[in-house]
Amino acid sequence: MKTLLIGGYGQLGTAIRRCWSGVEIVAPPRSELDVESHEKIDAALRSTSAALVINCASFHDVDRCEQEPERAFAVNAYAVYDLARTCARHDAALMTFSTDYVFDGALRRPYAEEDTVNPLSAYGASKLAGEVLATAANPRTYVVRTCGLYGRAERPAKPSFVDRILESARRGEEIVIEDGVVASPTFVGHLAAALQTLVASNRYGLYHAVNRGPVTWLEFAAEAMRQSGIAAAPRPGPPRARIAPRPSYSALESTRLGSLGVTLPEWREGIRAYLAQRVQEGLQ
Ligand SMILES: NC(=O)c1ccc[n+]([C@@H]2O[C@H](COP(=O)([O-])OP(=O)(O)OC[C@H]3O[C@@H](n4cnc5c(N)ncnc54)[C@H](OP(=O)(O)O)[C@@H]3O)[C@@H](O)[C@H]2O)c1
Repeated sequence: MKTLLIGGYGQLGTAIRRCWSGVEIVAPPRSELDVESHEKIDAALRSTSAALVINCASFHDVDRCEQEPERAFAVNAYAVYDLARTCARHDAALMTFSTDYVFDGALRRPYAEEDTVNPLSAYGASKLAGEVLATAANPRTYVVRTCGLYGRAERPAKPSFVDRILESARRGEEIVIEDGVVASPTFVGHLAAALQTLVASNRYGLYHAVNRGPVTWLEFAAEAMRQSGIAAAPRPGPPRARIAPRPSYSALESTRLGSLGVTLPEWREGIRAYLAQRVQEGLQ
């Protein structure tokens, strides 16, 4: 299946290009294919005749989205709507991504797909709008909500959350992590593999896709340091002052993927796989 990948050099896009097999993936850089450019998307679909478009592009700096809601809605909602309509006209399916931040955290247990949404931030609201608009514009859409992604982006080579912790800890700095925030940190390699299986199913709709098991960011950081052989442990810190409000509990349950027989490994396995990839790439 010929696939057009937008935002293909970030964390998830890089993992999809590396993991997917037996698929021809065309991934123009952002300078050639901006998700906000209707003309370029239309031309790319015409020239590639792609049967599937994967949209990894997003404006997901949560605090900047709060300060620039028009931009957040332009990229995360309106551009996704236009993309979905263009895909429908070219008879292409669409896969696009959303976030755990569509929830308010009040439930205090992992959220399933049918749980009530109530975004606390402009980012969460813009992604939720993108979900609804994409599905309305193209019934052959997969909307995949995920959470706390980490992995290596090819361009720009930004350090992931895990890299930042390990590098600071190795420099002997004290690691302080806000206590009590529960999420589903997810290794992009595991997510990419699950997405290829999902696409093979042709079962469009809304899915949660995360490494299994809710965990606090503090426990997650402690485990990443332990698995890396770092003797020190992170210290629990107070809530951080931030511009955009965030849910303090936003773990997800991959319920619908499970019913298709697709499971992602548990969160500790995500760390293990990522650290193994770092070693393969010559990093500590
Ligand atoms: N990261 C997380 O923790 C997380 C959590 C939940 C959901 N998600 C969702 O998962 C998806 C993938 O996230 P990710 O972590 O892989 O993001 P990422 O590493 O930031 O990658 C996004 C890529 O899209 C590109 N991009 C941004 N705006 C674009 C535009 N207007 N047109 C074309 N390309 C554009 C970026 O290029 P530049 O680098 O040049 O900006 C980057 O290469 C996003 O939809 C995100 O909202 C992420």
